[in-house]
Amino acid sequence: MSQQLAGKLALVTGGSRGIGRAIVESFVAEGAEVVFTYRSGKDEAAAIVSSIQAAGGKCHAIKADVSNETDILHLFSQLDEIGSLDIQVNNAGVIIEKSMLDTSAEDFDWLMNVNLRGLFLCGREGLRRMAGRSGRMINITSDLSFTGRERFSLYCASKGAINALTRSWAREFAPHVLVNGIAPGPIETDMLDLEHMSAEWRMMEEELTVLKRIGKPEEVSSVAVFLAGPGAGYLTGQIIGPNGGSVMP
Ligand SMILES: NC(=O)c1ccc[n+]([C@@H]2O[C@H](COP(=O)([O-])OP(=O)(O)OC[C@H]3O[C@@H](n4cnc5c(N)ncnc54)[C@H](O)[C@@H]3O)[C@@H](O)[C@H]2O)c1
Repeated sequence: MSQQLAGKLALVTGGSRGIGRAIVESFVAEGAEVVFTYRSGKDEAAAIVSSIQAAGGKCHAIKADVSNETDILHLFSQLDEIGSLDIQVNNAGVIIEKSMLDTSAEDFDWLMNVNLRGLFLCGREGLRRMAGRSGRMINITSDLSFTGRERFSLYCASKGAINALTRSWAREFAPHVLVNGIAPGPIETDMLDLEHMSAEWRMMEEELTVLKRIGKPEEVSSVAVFLAGPGAGYLTGQIIGPNGGSVMP
């Protein structure tokens, strides 16, 4: 293993499952010390920390709702005690499938609070620590932010706003902090819910990609390792798409 993140301290929000978990494990494998947040499921988070520590890695789990400012300020004060933040992945997110005509103001507030307010709060606190020093910030967006999708307009809008935050932060915090986005296509996680997905829907997801398949979390975490590592020093304000070719900007 190349250990290209050795000596770095990384934060990953929503790291106890799915894409976030794969990023936590990949960062640890590359030598980083990783703090990840979880929203619920204390035992699951503790089991991840134990297995990483048993294998000689450095990892910490902290409970935090990304939409809650008090939780986020507390998270970052705990992080400050661990060390100086080098890498942050804003990964936590939720999705709603609903016709626009049935979407309530409460649906809007719930989704935007997690996906957009949460990313804003975590991003601001991370940038406060990295500004003028150095750092890598990676925002997890979605290929749907480019294409839009019927019945997913709130989700698509939240991810489109994340793309705009990514580009604006890249400009505001250059040259010290490099800020990039990862916009995955369909990836096998709880969010996609393959277990309950109809055969027709699965075929539609696969057919929308050039590679004709759904991706794996590790195919996203490898991009996060690259963006956090020494090879990505000339990349900022970019949105990279591990999407099997679903979008070719
Ligand atoms: N799976 C896909 O097909 C896909 C495609 C494109 C983008 N994404 C994005 O990837 C990211 C990870 O999603 P995933 O696919 O691993 O799904 P997932 O549902 O397995 O993971 C989402 C994570 O976010 C956390 N989370 C949700 N609400 C939270 C809150 N209020 N506070 C703190 N944490 C919260 C969850 O606990 C979980 O750890 C999301 O931002 C998602 O939008 C996923």
